[in-house]
Amino acid sequence: MSGAPKVHIRSFGCQMNVYDSHRMADTLAGEGYTETATPGEADLIILNTCHIREKAAEKVFSELGRVRRLKEEAARAGRSVTLAVAGCVAQAEGAEIIRRAPAVDLVVGPQSYQRLPTLLRRVAREGALVDTEFPVEDKFDQLTAPSPQATRARGVAAFVTVQEGCDKFCTFCVVPYTRGAELSRPVAKIVAEVERLADAGVREVTLIGQNVNAYHGEGPTGEAWTLGRLLQRVAEIPGIARLRYTTSHPGDMEDSLIAAHRELPGLMPQLHLPVQSGSDRVLAAMNRRHTRTDYLRIIERLRHVRPDMAFSSDFIVGFPTETEADFAATLSLVEEVGFASAFSFKYSPRPGTPAADMEEQVSDAVRHERLLRLQRAIDRQQAVFNARCLGRSFEVLFERAGRYPGQLVGRSPYLQTVQVEGERVPDVAIGDIARVTVTQLSPNSLFGTLADAPSA
Ligand code: 5AD
Ligand code: SF4
Repeated sequence: MSGAPKVHIRSFGCQMNVYDSHRMADTLAGEGYTETATPGEADLIILNTCHIREKAAEKVFSELGRVRRLKEEAARAGRSVTLAVAGCVAQAEGAEIIRRAPAVDLVVGPQSYQRLPTLLRRVAREGALVDTEFPVEDKFDQLTAPSPQATRARGVAAFVTVQEGCDKFCTFCVVPYTRGAELSRPVAKIVAEVERLADAGVREVTLIGQNVNAYHGEGPTGEAWTLGRLLQRVAEIPGIARLRYTTSHPGDMEDSLIAAHRELPGLMPQLHLPVQSGSDRVLAAMNRRHTRTDYLRIIERLRHVRPDMAFSSDFIVGFPTETEADFAATLSLVEEVGFASAFSFKYSPRPGTPAADMEEQVSDAVRHERLLRLQRAIDRQQAVFNARCLGRSFEVLFERAGRYPGQLVGRSPYLQTVQVEGERVPDVAIGDIARVTVTQLSPNSLFGTLADAPSA
């Protein structure tokens, strides 16, 4: 094939993987690769995988089957395609992936992406290889920054990884094993990255990390900064109108972070704070290191400093030993908090984690039935939260054109999708922030019209 080589990257799982996929694309752009959304025309296909639950990991192997067929078709047409598996399945399964899927040429763990160009050259010379080391060098220092055009093409709301890994060791979770020990990036590096994003037109930044509020990166004079302090600093960067952060652990909601919600108008009044269970006994078995009361107290403190705060959460049902009474405690916690949205999952035993070896596993039928009941409760709360927005006006950041002409789509401060129509829509551009009055609801989004002149 002539011309620049093409890479297709498919991300599974969390926002961390989306960020990593962008950094891989930027690094490969430095090697002459252009990105393509069509796997059939790619010379290099990278699957950036997720290992958090069994279903997520299995998806990767069925996707590998599809990609193998593409690779065979290309070979028949005289074209060679390189297939790489990155992300947490790569880290957890290593060489096992190539044994199960021999079409895979490269297995690369999340700590080695800066070595991608070298690894690809080695694959071309020597054939299949696996790199799941945790090298000492800082990968973020070596990964290439995106061009302003690439940044702009990815939209006006961007993610920035500020910490990676986790030291909490919840007994159900693979993250401490696949992403390694908690590591925070220095403040100066983060500020420089956000300034670059702002210069390219980004208006909203979400600081991300597996345990983002454990952030303790090095400040300009050598001392460790909290996430609260980092948010204060990032909020000063011209052009950045909105800030968010995710995902947080209730044990790390430190005072400066709560204060940031009071002091920073640009810090959006929405927080994803996973609780996993409402039962103290289950929380202890999960090694969550906080109680139900601790969690409710944090919600109360945040509502005190920011009364319109919207909360979302993650729940696991059917954790080993969970009784009907434990599950009832989860339902009652949901009622007590009033979530704007939430994710709920059936417990999935992950090899190598302590909970997978616990004796009293809950049957799949019970897990399934509890999941349905919890999801019904969450859906009801989400409907109540959205219904309260009807007739209200708030600022929306416009992110993209809608499906129909004359329609724009953006996000509310509470992270809801808002579709805006009306004769004044042509006055606003993508990247503008304008007040919108909510006129209609659907289960997954709000509809509205512009309330007054755009306030860019
Ligand atoms: N089983 C089910 N859900 C899990 N999560 C993490 N590990 C597991 C598991 N073994 C969920 C948690 C976490 C979210 C990202 O995924 O709720 O907050
Ligand atoms: Fe996993 Fe989050 Fe617990 Fe860390 S805090 S072990 S990432 S669930």
